[in-house]
Amino acid sequence: MIKVKIAPSILASDFSKVGEEVASLERCGADLVHCDVMDGTFVPPITFGDQMVKAIRPRTCLPLDCHLMVVHPETQFEAFQRAGADILTIHVEACGKRTNALLRRIRELGMKPSAVINPETPVEEVFPAALEADMILLMSVHPGWGGQKFLPETLKKIEALRTFCIREGRGELDIEVDGGVTAENVRSILSAGANVIVAGSTVFRAADRAATIARLRG
Ligand code: DX5
Ligand code: ZN
Repeated sequence: MIKVKIAPSILASDFSKVGEEVASLERCGADLVHCDVMDGTFVPPITFGDQMVKAIRPRTCLPLDCHLMVVHPETQFEAFQRAGADILTIHVEACGKRTNALLRRIRELGMKPSAVINPETPVEEVFPAALEADMILLMSVHPGWGGQKFLPETLKKIEALRTFCIREGRGELDIEVDGGVTAENVRSILSAGANVIVAGSTVFRAADRAATIARLRG
């Protein structure tokens, strides 16, 4: 049975005390810390980059799962490696035909490579990357902002990707879903075949984060 992992997104945390917020996630039973890196071009907002990753690195033993919503992610690989990133996720919309070569580069640098597609991108466009990467992320909201509503069309994409992976002998590939996940819809997301759950607002707005993370495990 493939392991379910919960990856709270620090985008929804209190930036004035982000170190404490990150440290609390480990105590609350999270598996990964999801870091939403936005460059103001691939998506309108600017959040943070490798310097934030470097700052939070000593505050947790959990892997840092860095989602690069940036147009030229390859210019950042070495900086994120030095900062202590564990997983680097790059957008197929930004990398095009170079996606698999860039995934190999991330692996050469000692990090886990992962690729992601936006809601409007057909799932087939991430199939080649699924043969190279350690994880595939499917966006279930339009990237750029936390607190949006889960797009239900994502469920069919999860099913299609898991079926493809099983057919290709990669049935254990991590499939991550990002955006609008709640304790109410998580079951349908896991049943469709995802096993890594990003949750920003659901975790950080909860009165009891540990109980919420436990509920998200389904
Ligand atoms: C959106 C980000 C998400 C976001 C999720 O661009 O990639 O990781 O933080 O936030 P929630 O869980 O609040 O939808
Ligand atoms: Zn994200």
